[in-house]
Amino acid sequence: MNDTIMEKYRREFPIFKHAHYINSCSYGALSHQVEAAYGDYLNCRRTKGADWLYWCEIHEDVRARFAALVNAAPDEIAVTTSASASLSSLISALDFSGPRHRVVTTDHAFPTEAQNWHAQATRGAEIVHVRERDGQLDLEHMAELVDEKTLIVAVPLVCYRHGVLNDIAAISKIARKAGAMILVDGYQGLGAVPFDVRALDVDFLIGGALKYLLSSAGVGFLYVRENLVAGLYPLQTGWFAQADIHAMKIHGNEPAPNARRFEQGTPSVPSLYAARAGLDYMLNVGVAATRKHVQGLNRALKDGVRALGGTLTVALDDVAQGPMVAIRSTDDHALVAALEADNIVTSCRDGNLRVSAHFYNDMSDINAVLAALEKNKALLA
Ligand SMILES: Cc1ncc(COP(=O)(O)O)c(C=O)c1O
Repeated sequence: MNDTIMEKYRREFPIFKHAHYINSCSYGALSHQVEAAYGDYLNCRRTKGADWLYWCEIHEDVRARFAALVNAAPDEIAVTTSASASLSSLISALDFSGPRHRVVTTDHAFPTEAQNWHAQATRGAEIVHVRERDGQLDLEHMAELVDEKTLIVAVPLVCYRHGVLNDIAAISKIARKAGAMILVDGYQGLGAVPFDVRALDVDFLIGGALKYLLSSAGVGFLYVRENLVAGLYPLQTGWFAQADIHAMKIHGNEPAPNARRFEQGTPSVPSLYAARAGLDYMLNVGVAATRKHVQGLNRALKDGVRALGGTLTVALDDVAQGPMVAIRSTDDHALVAALEADNIVTSCRDGNLRVSAHFYNDMSDINAVLAALEKNKALLA
């Protein structure tokens, strides 16, 4: 990204006037555009009161943009209210009573993913976890666990604890070889890591709008491969999932023929305004360009941490490094607070400081983080 473009980006995200915001793994920074979109919603409420037709249009616009982001068709996308809602709606349509009842999840799972699978034990599911080896998923272990009893393999694109980017192509090969389906939780990568559901041969993908997609809490999505939709009958449903939302039938349940059948009730309308604006911004910037830019920043950050005598939670090459870099700390909450005192916004999990750059970050942010780490060396593990 050249200097002029970077200046423009940083002007459009006002937080950079007073802070080094390097925390997109937690929440993307707020742009003028997304703020204006929230304003449009309020203006609509103030002047028109309700505009359901237009709000349904925005819902479809958001669906189309999620589809474009991951090379899916809009009919393969359900727009939901969170990644958790996406997953639980999908899971309600899976059958764990047959010979294929094993779920292979991983020790990289975000809690909401693992918890949803474990909740299925009462429906006959057997849940097993692929372990980590040196922070990375042990794919040999995965290959041992995935067998003819396996219904589905579920894996995050990027681990929320330490930023490892999983090799989805290799994992879908393991799943396919055993005839199992594959679900990816893309939340910690989408927007910062290119993702193509077709090229990666993925059946299901969940994610949401608030991190690298720059938008708002209240909007998630579910991708379902087209040829699987008709065979899945969600038990968690609602009127927005019906073939005809306006039919208002109460003597039956007629799910939509497309992935809309995984939706439920009234969408989070204010968040949809924000999601459309955020997705537009991100699609405009470009995910491939962002990946390259962030890889450069992360190389500099990691070199700097090593030079300070700090420890990277998992030592990763460019390919396996997700957008977030995790740094070991003796007290991660104290380290986040110490950085905050220097106007640097980061976050932490599991004993790790998480530094997550996006396209709007530059070397001034990395240098500020490194200077603050040097000042707080005692908190580096
Ligand atoms: C990898 C991952 N999956 C899922 C979630 C949770 O998403 P939601 O709160 O939309 O259900 C998060 C939130 O941080 C996450 O990082």
